[in-house]
Amino acid sequence: MNFTLLESKIINILANNVALSQKLQAICKLLKESIPYYDWVGFYFKNGAENELILGPFAGAPTEHTIIPFGKGICGQVAVSNKNFVVQDVTAQENYISCGFKVKSEIVVPIFVNGKNIGQIDIDSHSTAPFTDADERFLEFVCAEVSKQNLAAFL
Ligand code: SME
Repeated sequence: MNFTLLESKIINILANNVALSQKLQAICKLLKESIPYYDWVGFYFKNGAENELILGPFAGAPTEHTIIPFGKGICGQVAVSNKNFVVQDVTAQENYISCGFKVKSEIVVPIFVNGKNIGQIDIDSHSTAPFTDADERFLEFVCAEVSKQNLAAFL
């Protein structure tokens, strides 16, 4: 996987003079179309003062999990742990919210603004154990670049 090329495309997308939601949508589409084992790519953000996440732009099948309480599922756990969560086999996780029987693995990486965990990127895969350290480093890059944007609309 040529993550370096994708990183330069991410920078170009974020430099466009369009609404942030369009940029995030374009990132989701790019990642889903470029990385064969990324089958669903989406952003969740903290929902104002509520201790819950709300779904932002995404690419892939629509999900009914548009609101996720802190602590629930992989996403909700990352909202409180402030750490990457790599799940190579979702059947091994008890605190997991299924988004469909095809999903075998998931990776969630938090987005920090001024040291505060304000959201995350979430990837679902139909492959078992597809993720490596390179995915984590790449998604950390994506989150760091996204955090440089004015995220007020999502906070
Ligand atoms: N599987 C997630 C829920 C969100 S969907 O993957 C889109 C979780 O356990 O938090």
